[in-house]
Amino acid sequence: MPLGQLYGIGVGPGDPELLTRKAYRILQDVKVIFTPQGKGGREGIALSIIKELIPPSSQVISLHLPMTQNKELLEKSWQEGAAQIYEVLQEQNCAFVTIGDCLLYSTYSYLIAALRSIDKTVQIESIPGITSFAAAASAANVALAEGTEPLLIVPALGETEKLRSYLKSFPNLVLMKGASSFEQIYKILEEEGRLSSSYYISRCGLSGEVIQKDLRLLQGQELDYLSLLLVKKGGLPVD
Ligand SMILES: C[S@@+](CC[C@H](N)C(=O)[O-])C[C@H]1O[C@@H](n2cnc3c(N)ncnc32)[C@H](O)[C@@H]1O
Repeated sequence: MPLGQLYGIGVGPGDPELLTRKAYRILQDVKVIFTPQGKGGREGIALSIIKELIPPSSQVISLHLPMTQNKELLEKSWQEGAAQIYEVLQEQNCAFVTIGDCLLYSTYSYLIAALRSIDKTVQIESIPGITSFAAAASAANVALAEGTEPLLIVPALGETEKLRSYLKSFPNLVLMKGASSFEQIYKILEEEGRLSSSYYISRCGLSGEVIQKDLRLLQGQELDYLSLLLVKKGGLPVD
C-alpha cells in the first residue's frame, strides 16, 4: 500500500467561517485529524475551531506538544508526534490542524521536519490559513500597512532594546506572543510615542474577544496568550 499524504491545515485564528474552502474539503475527506493538545490536556484551540465542521466519524488524535523553552523536551515531542503521524500514513491520508496560518510560528513546521527525518519521501501539502494578525486588523478596521510602508511581524518576548530599535525603524508592527511581557512593551511604546497609535486584540474571533484601543486599561491585567498588538504610526509613511 502506498504511503498516505499529510495535509497541514491552518484553520485561521478563531472564527470557523474563516476556514478556507480547501481546508474544509480536506477535513471532510480525511478520516484522521491530528491536533495539538490544549493546556492541561484540555481541547486545543485548533480543534475547537473545526469541531462542528468535521464528520462525526473522524478520528481526532491530540498530540502532546508542550509550550516550553526546554529544547530537548520540544524535540522529543516533535519526534514522537511525527512518529504517530507516520504510523497513520502507513494506511491512509491524514491532516494536522493548527491555528492561524500553518507556517507562521507554528509547531507544524517542526513536525514536518521531524517527519521528513523519518522518511524524506513523505508527501506533505500545506494549506494556508488566515493569520491572527490579518483577522485582528480586520476586527479593528485598521490597515496593516499602506502604500510603500513596510510592516514588521515580530514575537515580542521581552527583548526591550530590540523592540525599541524596531519601533524607531518601522511605521507598522505586529507584536505577537507578547502577553507575558506586556508591561515592558507598554513602557517602551509610551517612551517611543506609539502608545496612542497601538491596538490590542485578544482572542480574535473566539469567545471573549477583546479589541482595545486604550492600552492604559490593560495595565496590571493578566493578558491572554492569544493576543497581539498592532502598532501604527498614524497611518502615515515614516519621514
Ligand atoms: C504560536 S503563535 C501562532 C500564530 C498563528 N500560526 C498565526 O498564523 O497567527 C501564537 C500567537 O499568535 C497570536 N494569536 C493566535 N491566535 C490569535 C487570536 N485568535 N487572537 C489574537 N492573537 C492570536 C498571539 O500573538 C499568540 O501569542
